[in-house]
This record gives sequence, C-alpha cells and structure tokens, in this order.
Amino acid sequence: MRNFPAMGSLRGISVAIFVVQALLASVALVSAQGSTTARPLWQTLSGDAPFVVARGGFSGIFADSSFGAYSLALLLGPSDVILWCDVQLTKDGAGICFPDLKLDNNSNIASVFNDKQKSYLVNGVSTKGLFSIDYTLKDLGNNNVSLSQGVYSRTNKFDGQNYPIMTVQDTYTQLKPPGFWLNIQHDAFYAQHNLSMRSFLLSVIRNAAATIDYISSPEVAFLQNVAPLFRKSATKLVFRFLGQEDVEPSTNQTYDSLSKNLTFIKTFASGIIVPKSYIWPVDGSLYLQPSNTIVLDAHKEGLEVFASDFYNDIPFSFNYSYDPVAEYLQFVDNDIFSVDGVISDFPITPAAAIDCFAHLGKNATKQVDLLVISNNGASGDYPGCTDMAYTKAIEDGVDVLDCPVQITKDGTPICLGTINLIDSTSVTQSGFSNLTATIPEIMPGSGIFTFNLSWSDIQTLKPVISSPQSQYKLFRNPKFKNAGNFLTLSDFLSMAKNATSLHGVLISIENAPYLAEQGFAVTDAVLNALSKAGYDKQTDQKVMIQSSNSSVLMKLKGKTNYQLAYKVDEDIGGAQSSTIEDIKRFASAVVISKDSVFPENSAFLAGTTHVVQRLQAANLSVYVQTFSNEFTAQAWDFFSDATVEVNSFYGGAGINGVITDFPKTSDRYRRNRCLDRGNKTPGYMTPVQPGGLLQLVTPEYLPPADAPNPYLTEADVVEPPLSPVAAKTPTSTQSGTASAPRSPNGQPKVAASVIIPLMAVLLAIYLLF
Ligand SMILES: *[C@@H]1O[C@H](CO)[C@@H](O)[C@H](O)[C@H]1NC(C)=O
Ligand SMILES: *[C@@H]1O[C@H](CO)[C@@H](O)[C@H](O)[C@H]1NC(C)=O
Ligand SMILES: *[C@@H]1O[C@H](CO)[C@@H](O)[C@H](O)[C@H]1NC(C)=O
Ligand SMILES: *[C@@H]1O[C@H](CO)[C@@H](O)[C@H](O)[C@H]1NC(C)=O
Ligand SMILES: *[C@@H]1O[C@H](CO)[C@@H](O)[C@H](O)[C@H]1NC(C)=O
Ligand SMILES: *[C@@H]1O[C@H](CO)[C@@H](O)[C@H](O)[C@H]1NC(C)=O
Ligand SMILES: *[C@@H]1O[C@H](CO)[C@@H](O)[C@H](O)[C@H]1NC(C)=O
Ligand SMILES: *[C@@H]1O[C@H](CO)[C@@H](O)[C@H](O)[C@H]1NC(C)=O
Ligand SMILES: *[C@@H]1O[C@H](CO)[C@@H](O)[C@H](O)[C@H]1NC(C)=O
Ligand SMILES: *[C@@H]1O[C@H](CO)[C@@H](O)[C@H](O)[C@H]1NC(C)=O
Ligand SMILES: *[C@@H]1O[C@H](CO)[C@@H](O)[C@H](O)[C@H]1NC(C)=O
Ligand SMILES: *[C@@H]1O[C@H](CO)[C@@H](O)[C@H](O)[C@H]1NC(C)=O
Repeated sequence: MRNFPAMGSLRGISVAIFVVQALLASVALVSAQGSTTARPLWQTLSGDAPFVVARGGFSGIFADSSFGAYSLALLLGPSDVILWCDVQLTKDGAGICFPDLKLDNNSNIASVFNDKQKSYLVNGVSTKGLFSIDYTLKDLGNNNVSLSQGVYSRTNKFDGQNYPIMTVQDTYTQLKPPGFWLNIQHDAFYAQHNLSMRSFLLSVIRNAAATIDYISSPEVAFLQNVAPLFRKSATKLVFRFLGQEDVEPSTNQTYDSLSKNLTFIKTFASGIIVPKSYIWPVDGSLYLQPSNTIVLDAHKEGLEVFASDFYNDIPFSFNYSYDPVAEYLQFVDNDIFSVDGVISDFPITPAAAIDCFAHLGKNATKQVDLLVISNNGASGDYPGCTDMAYTKAIEDGVDVLDCPVQITKDGTPICLGTINLIDSTSVTQSGFSNLTATIPEIMPGSGIFTFNLSWSDIQTLKPVISSPQSQYKLFRNPKFKNAGNFLTLSDFLSMAKNATSLHGVLISIENAPYLAEQGFAVTDAVLNALSKAGYDKQTDQKVMIQSSNSSVLMKLKGKTNYQLAYKVDEDIGGAQSSTIEDIKRFASAVVISKDSVFPENSAFLAGTTHVVQRLQAANLSVYVQTFSNEFTAQAWDFFSDATVEVNSFYGGAGINGVITDFPKTSDRYRRNRCLDRGNKTPGYMTPVQPGGLLQLVTPEYLPPADAPNPYLTEADVVEPPLSPVAAKTPTSTQSGTASAPRSPNGQPKVAASVIIPLMAVLLAIYLLF
C-alpha cells in the first residue's frame, strides 16, 4: 500500500461510547416505564449504533473491490467497518471479489484478452459480456488483468495502480477487516453453469481462516439452501430486496410483495437489505415522501435492516440539499426508527454521520471558532437574496447574513447576487427584456442591469434560483426555484436586526466607480441605510463591508467603525509582504477563493499555499468562498462530501470563516462532537492531506501540472481614490443619498418604458449615415 491521503493511523474512536450510552439509555427506559420520552439512543434492533458497510471498499474513489478501495475504507471508516465483497465464481470455481458477473466494466479485461463478448441468460434475460465463468483464476492472475474504475462519472486517474482482482480468501487475509460481508447476487446463474456457491462457501468455512459476518443474496432458494450450514455459526444470512417490481426468481413473486411477507423472510434470514427508497420513498421529482413502516415491521419480526444505494455522487432527494450527511441522518436519526446499517460507496460519510452528527441537538455547543457567512442567504435552497433565502439562512445558524448591494434606477439600494438581473431574475421573460446593454467596465458580454429598472419594476420580476452546477445537470430545489421576494437594503437590515442569533451582516459593494460615473452614490446609500436602521449606534451586531476595490474601503476607512473586508477576486498563489501591509491599511479581513488556499490540478488538490498563514500573521481574518454542497463543486479529495471539505479548510488550513450557499452544513459541522477529541480524532473527522491523492496517480494518468497562481501584488491592490459621483439626469430618489446631486422630483415611472432600446438607437444612428 502506498501512502494514502492524510490521516496516518488516526482511525479508531470506536462507536463503543454509543453502545455504552445506549445501554445507559435502555436502563433509563426500564426504570422510567410508562414515560414516553425515555427511549434508547439508537432505535436499531440491538440498540447499538448502526453499522457502516463499505460496498466494494471505498468504491466511490478507487476501483470497486480493489486493495486500494478496501484499505481506504479501513482507514476512513469506523473501527468496526464491514467490508463488502460481491462474490463471483471463475471457470474453475474460485471465488473472487468483483462487483458484477461480467468483467467488462471495472477491469481492463477487454484490453488483455481479445475475446468476443459472450451471451448468456441471466435470470432469463439474454446478457452480453465477458463473464467470469469463462476465465480461470490463472487466466485472470497471470495475464495481469487489473481492476479499473467502473463508474464512468468517477475519476479513472488511479487505474494505473493496476490493483489485481483478489480472491475472497486473499481479500480477507490481506485486509483483516473488522467485519466481512459476502454478497451472492447470482447463485442461480452459476448453478446453471455447474458452479456451486454452496461448495464455495463450504470451502471458505472449512478453511476457517476467514470470519464471515454476513452473507446476503436476492435469491430466496439460495438462502434457504445454505441456511442449515450456518445455523450454529455467527454468520448471519440477509435477504436482499431488489427493485420493487423485479421478480424474485425462485418464488416468482415481486420483491414488493415479498416485502409484505417478512414472517416468511425470517424463516431463512436474520436481516434484510432494502434500497433506501423502500424506507423513504421519493416522488417523481425527487422529493421525499413520508417514510414507510418497513423498518419498524422488520424490527418487529426480529430482522435487522440494512439500507442500500447510498452514493455521495449520484443526485439524491432535494430534501437533503445535496448534503450526504443529511441523507444518512434521515435513516439513523429520525425519531421513529434507525436502520441497523447502511451500505455505502463512501464510508467516510456515514461514519461521521453516525459517530459525530447523529442526535446532535440544534443547540449543540460550537466546538470550533469558524464564522459562517452566507452567500446570498441560503441560496442553495431558495433563490438568492430573497426573504426565503435569508430566513432559511438564519434558521440554519448562519453568523453573518450577506447583502450584495445593487442600485436601482431610482437610487434604491437593494440586495441581489449580481448587478446583472439576468443571473437571478426572470427579467428576460419580462417586458424589460429589451433593456439589454453591454458595459465592459462591469462585465464582458451583455446584461440587463439593476440600475436600468426601478425598484417597483424589479419587484414585478420573479426571483430565479441559481444553479451553478447546471452543466452537470445538478439543479437546486426545483419546487422553489421562483419562490420568495426581493428586499431593499433597508428591508434586509430590519430583518437582520430582528434576528438575535446573528453575529452581524456583510454588505458587499461592487462596481462603485462605474455607478459613481452614472450618478449613483452607492457607498453613501449603504451608509445611509445602515444608520437609518440604527446600525451605526449599536454593538449587538457587527457590520462588515466588503469590496474588491480598495478605493471603496479607503473611502470608508476612518469614517465608520464598520469592519472592512477586502475581496481578492482572482485565484492567488501567494501575497507579497508589502501587499499585505497595504491591505492592512484599509481592511481587517480578506476574502479569498478556495483555490487560493488549496490549489487544484484536474480537480485534485495539489498542495497548500501560505496565503492563509501570511494573512493571519498580519492579523487579517481570512474568509474563503464559495462553499457549495454539490459534489461537482468539490475536489475529488473531499470524497463528494461537503463536510469533509469544510473540515479540511478549517482543520487543515485554519481559515477563519466560510462563505457558503448552504449555511446549514457548515453550522452543523462546527457543532459535531468529533471535533474535541484531540489526538483521538477519528479518520473520518481528520482533514485531508492536500496532494495525497494526486500522489497515487501514476505518471501516464498524471495531468500536466497547472502553472501556479500568480502572487497578489501591490499593483493589484492599490487603486486611485473613488471619483466623486457625477451629476445625473433626474430620476426619482428614494434613499436620501445626500451627496448625489439629483433632482428631488423624480421622473415619472412611465419614463422607463419610453427609453429606446440600445439596438434601436444604434440602428437609428446607422440609418442616418
Ligand atoms: C458498463 O457500464 C455502463 C454504465 O456504467 C453500461 O452502460 C454498460 O452497458 C456496461 N457494460 C457492460 C458490458 O456491462
Ligand atoms: C504481468 O506482469 C509481470 C510483472 O509486471 C510481468 O513480468 C509479466 O510478463 C506480465 N504478464 C503478462 C502476460 O503481461
Ligand atoms: C452441467 O453438468 C451436467 C451433468 O454433469 C451436464 O449435463 C451439463 O451439460 C453441464 N452444464 C454445463 C453448462 O456445463
Ligand atoms: C411466474 O409467473 C408468471 C406470471 O404469473 C408465469 O407466467 C410463470 O409461468 C411463472 N413461473 C414460474 C417458474 O412459476
Ligand atoms: C408468504 O410467502 C410464503 C412463501 O412464498 C407463502 O407460502 C405465504 O402464503 C406468504 N404469506 C403471505 C401472507 O403472503
Ligand atoms: C421534502 O420536501 C418537500 C418540499 O419542501 C416537503 O413538502 C416534504 O414534506 C419533505 N419531505 C420530508 C419527508 O421531509
Ligand atoms: C435552543 O436554544 C434556544 C435559545 O437558547 C431555545 O429557545 C430552544 O428551545 C433550544 N432548542 C432546543 C432543541 O434545545
Ligand atoms: C441604463 O442606465 C444607465 C445609467 O443610468 C444609462 O446611462 C443608460 O442609458 C440606461 N440604459 C437603458 C437602456 O435604459
Ligand atoms: C421581528 O420579529 C418579530 C417576532 O419574531 C416579528 O413579529 C416581526 O415581524 C419581525 N420583524 C421583521 C421586520 O422581520
Ligand atoms: C496582532 O494583534 C495582536 C493583538 O491584537 C498584537 O499583539 C500583535 O502585535 C498584532 N500583530 C501584528 C503583526 O499586527
Ligand atoms: C477601483 O476604483 C478606482 C476608483 O474609482 C478605479 O479607478 C479603478 O478602476 C477600480 N478598479 C477596478 C479593478 O475596478
Ligand atoms: C421595451 O418593450 C416594451 C414593450 O414590451 C415597451 O413598452 C418599452 O418601450 C420598451 N423599452 C425600450 C427601452 O425600448
């Protein structure tokens, strides 16, 4: 085994603590009989914490059933992790761990042998491929057939590791797993080819060198057939349910109908595996419906329940906001029941969910000093900067609520993610779609800008939820994609002031120089609104003002007690000392990108910069943006788990705050009970080692190294002072922006609709020539 990312030997806090707690809790239950509140901590069959079963090892990152995948599961899973092996038989009856009876996917067999695909009946369905029954163990071993990533959306960059196909016996002997699970998906198929799973199992038992904790199968006849072999052993038999409409071959009943006959299942099995949708069904648009009673029913029969089909990198119900920890918690910590185990391709996530996050009250103590700042409110759940996004962010435990200030045509400061209405409103489908303009000072390409519509016009637009990962077909909360109302800065401030849980607000100001040229005094408008809301005369909530243009912060410096934050709007690889000194002159905090902390190469972390350390050494707080739950927004190193990412930025790089679309995930992270265990921190709560995974990529798969990000220089930071606000053609003013020399008599609203569109003007000019 080569050096794995991070974590050394830090795995190991066991779930024993919960076993003890559960025992104590059941004692309490006995002594408080009749009380409805006392109940065991874990509503599993045994009262113990649920198990984590690593399907094919940590198959979410390394090839399923490979030594790498199994090792990583041992390293990052709980101390009692169970390794799952899908057993296939070779031509000579050897049992190998391999996810499918066809070897095409998940190995390089097609390039080793030039064989034609064969066609066999599998459960009555003609199936084409290269089947394990046509190769002997020697064929597979001597010819260097090796495992490869079989799920095409996962990285294939580790395929050069050439992990061999392993026998069941070798898997056990080499990895010595705390728990070992054999899944036998196809006994009937092998029997048709005169290969016996029963004989194979007998050979494993006789050998006695392996302890098998669980054997599962979706075939009733097989389990009935082998049950007598295991009557007196510790090995448990588990019936695996497949799709509800699929037909179980030996009883000719659908799995759905079998799921209503658990008494029958109990005659040959002590547990069941059910796809997660049997427990928490989803509707056609991927929203969770009320839970079924199958877990309770099975527990009544004395059957253990394992839930399957947990993948961090395949979209799950929208109710979880792309947070896989939230999904596991729904199955183990829901007040009604807990499954007895989960079968996962990403064992780090259920390990943390069970040990660190389950039964954590909303008020659990914060273990670490990490500021959670929203990005357009909870914009992962609702359209950004709407009342709904802000309310959700407050409920979710955000510390600092943000308002990116934009100015309307009538001078009203409002909160909106960008100055371009196309990004977050339905403006292109409105009567204002003809207000398109191209303003290179603001952005390349054309947009419809807030300052060309009045506030009352903007209120007629529908908000649109942002979906930054839409290129991967990942969309946010479709049911609420147009929900909520926009707010003026004043509305925002009164809402924020009312929320006692808030630590403060962050107001960001961009495009001030351009707006000043057009006669909009945005900084004055902000200061005005703040003092009107009483923020200048209170200390309960902090006010942070952020800009990427130092001239804005220089202008505010000394005039207010508000904290000033400088946003670096490019990825940087470092910062000159003189630059940092400059920044200190006008800011007490700096906002940088994730890449400026952990630069990436082909979505792998390549290392760590010194940027955080250098800025902090100068007493500048470092806030990092933008954290999102969608797995496509994260480096491979974070295992498609937003909590692992936040933990690595906080625990590994020591940042002071996150700026996030999903405040709930970050807030819950800092309250988890695994953070205060010092040198006993379990592997699943240890920050990842940047560059660790990249080291496992062999040269032929090695992506060309990216050029390092440039240093932040004085020239990037120092700006000429903000120019005075230009005189402006009269428009109505609502905010008393004192310095804006504008006519108090506003232009009537209808004026907006008589402005000739830019194209028409251009056309007219051309026609004149
Ligand atoms: C391999 O897997 C892909 C999907 O991941 C599937 O479309 C394809 O049919 C599989 N090939 C074989 C031979 O099973
Ligand atoms: C398999 O790999 C070994 C060691 O790398 C090599 O000596 C052998 O020739 C290879 N066998 C085949 C059939 O490629
Ligand atoms: C299995 O064995 C039986 C009896 O020994 C034989 O008749 C049959 O052809 C074999 N089937 C296969 C697929 O080898
Ligand atoms: C299974 O059920 C189907 C439809 O009910 C029937 O046509 C078929 O003969 C049955 N097969 C067996 C093996 O009982
Ligand atoms: C349960 O399944 C067994 C075996 O298929 C069958 O004999 C029995 O009638 C079933 N019971 C119910 C209630 O469906
Ligand atoms: C899932 O979300 C939808 C939409 O917000 C909600 O109606 C439903 O009750 C939620 N389901 C569960 C089980 O919480
Ligand atoms: C959490 O704390 C708040 C305020 O301290 C309190 O109102 C609320 O009841 C607490 N909730 C729980 C679940 O303890
Ligand atoms: C948009 O607003 C700017 C600044 O007030 C103004 O110069 C421009 O003419 C307006 N464009 C349209 C199409 O209204
Ligand atoms: C402030 O909070 C109170 C009580 O929670 C509520 O009634 C009121 O509407 C809130 N005001 C604003 C401006 O949100
Ligand atoms: C940082 O702040 C601390 C206390 O506020 C002060 O003692 C220290 O000198 C400061 N360091 C720098 C580099 O400004
Ligand atoms: C920052 O503001 C100054 C002063 O208005 C302006 O000259 C400069 O171009 C602005 N810089 C950027 C990067 O927008
Ligand atoms: C935009 O189109 C609307 C009708 O859809 C029209 O009333 C308005 O005058 C147009 N505005 C401009 C600036 O052309």
